[in-house]
Amino acid sequence: MSRGLFLTLEGGDGSGKTTQAELLEQWFTAEGRTVVRTREPGGTDVGVEVREIVLHHRGDIAPRAEALLYAADRAHHVATVVRPALARGEVVVQDRYIDSSVAYQGAGRVLDAREVRSISEWATEGLAPDLTILLDLPSDVARRRLDGARTRYDRLEAEAGEFHGRVREAYLALAAAEPDRFLVVDATLPVDDIHATIRARVETLA
Ligand code: TYD
Repeated sequence: MSRGLFLTLEGGDGSGKTTQAELLEQWFTAEGRTVVRTREPGGTDVGVEVREIVLHHRGDIAPRAEALLYAADRAHHVATVVRPALARGEVVVQDRYIDSSVAYQGAGRVLDAREVRSISEWATEGLAPDLTILLDLPSDVARRRLDGARTRYDRLEAEAGEFHGRVREAYLALAAAEPDRFLVVDATLPVDDIHATIRARVETLA
């Protein structure tokens, strides 16, 4: 039996994670591997409920509570979906993991990024991905992809843009700190080129 492989995709909204996850799944399946495609938040029944709170709750959620909600989703997901799949020798292709918490909750400037990480490490009993694919996209490009071709934003929108700029910088710093775990891909490249780059790296693991 092949060993299990844990691959995570990271990047801002609109960076193309879903498309690349689909292409990776197709490729692994054609190679005869069993693939579990999943995501955080929301990869379990409990997670769907947590996702509803973190993404759709009306009103503020205190930053520490928000960080704990993502970590709670992750704890249940790793224990009931990810670790069992890896133990069966399957390939887990996952949209977002601990790096999302470090980049997003850390970028809010309220929480210490190391503390955010340590909560998730406790939640997952230290499960690290074999490879993390960062689809890197300048935040203005991401924004235009999401909004159509707008180039001017009001003050609030610009603030949101700054937040996304900090998320991007945090991701790049994480990747620079752990080059063996990360593959950084320019997400402005054509879909097929990105897939080929990812596949070339994944083939060294599989
Ligand atoms: P989602 O709808 O899954 O968006 P995407 O297609 O961009 O993955 O929303 C997930 C949102 O949750 C995204 O804006 C990032 C955020 N998030 C965190 O802030 N912390 C986390 O730990 C995770 C997993 C996600």
